[in-house]
Amino acid sequence: MTRRKLVAGNWKMNGSLAALAELDTIAAVARAHPAVDVSIALPATLIAPAVQRVPGLAIGGQDVHAAESGAHTGCLSAAMLAEAGASFTIVGHSERRADQGETSQDAWAKASAAHRHGLGVILCVGETDAERDAGRAARVVQAQIEKSVPDLATGAWLTLAYEPRWAIGTGRTPTLDEIAEVHSIARAKLRTLVGDAADTIRILYGGSVTGANAAAILETEDVDGALVGGASLTAAKFVPIIEAAR
Ligand code: G3H
Repeated sequence: MTRRKLVAGNWKMNGSLAALAELDTIAAVARAHPAVDVSIALPATLIAPAVQRVPGLAIGGQDVHAAESGAHTGCLSAAMLAEAGASFTIVGHSERRADQGETSQDAWAKASAAHRHGLGVILCVGETDAERDAGRAARVVQAQIEKSVPDLATGAWLTLAYEPRWAIGTGRTPTLDEIAEVHSIARAKLRTLVGDAADTIRILYGGSVTGANAAAILETEDVDGALVGGASLTAAKFVPIIEAAR
């Protein structure tokens, strides 16, 4: 099945109102490549200004709370993200798993809450370097998918992102064969959970994607796009990745 490529940026805890100027060029390049979907997950304070500045670009959050509302200081509900103009959110990112102790069950609840409010979801999974060294990468990813992907998931709203933790921000990437192997295993696992809808769900690769390695990664079997951190912060670095997805 043919799936449209998605190049998603994640600014993490970077950026400012002034830095939103980068989105002008990114949005223009995205318009010039209509066969590729482009989106950017921003810090919460930048979402509404970004939506106002580049209304044609898909802007998202980097996390969401699973509850509808209530006593959760510092958190954002799915309704709040949607009201700010976000069209999607990341959940289960490994930095939140590491820094905030989030689990795959949390990712499931967050993905479900986001879906209830009409948000798309990029759900992240991936092994640590110790898990890969122990030959457990596939099993870890399978278990994370099993616990975090809602039964009713379809590609209309859910995207999976395979991000080996050891590849994030390090300049290290798995080999193309290793990426293809995990993506294939991930899709097979999705099939056991959601049946034929698994074919509609895009699986992104994330971890040290740059303009230099994007073309090879994006051409790899079963890779439907990229989730890009550091190289999404400037148009100069992000545009070549969008262009590589053509
Ligand atoms: O969300 C993005 C990923 O964590 C990848 O980050 O491209 O800086 O390695 P990176």
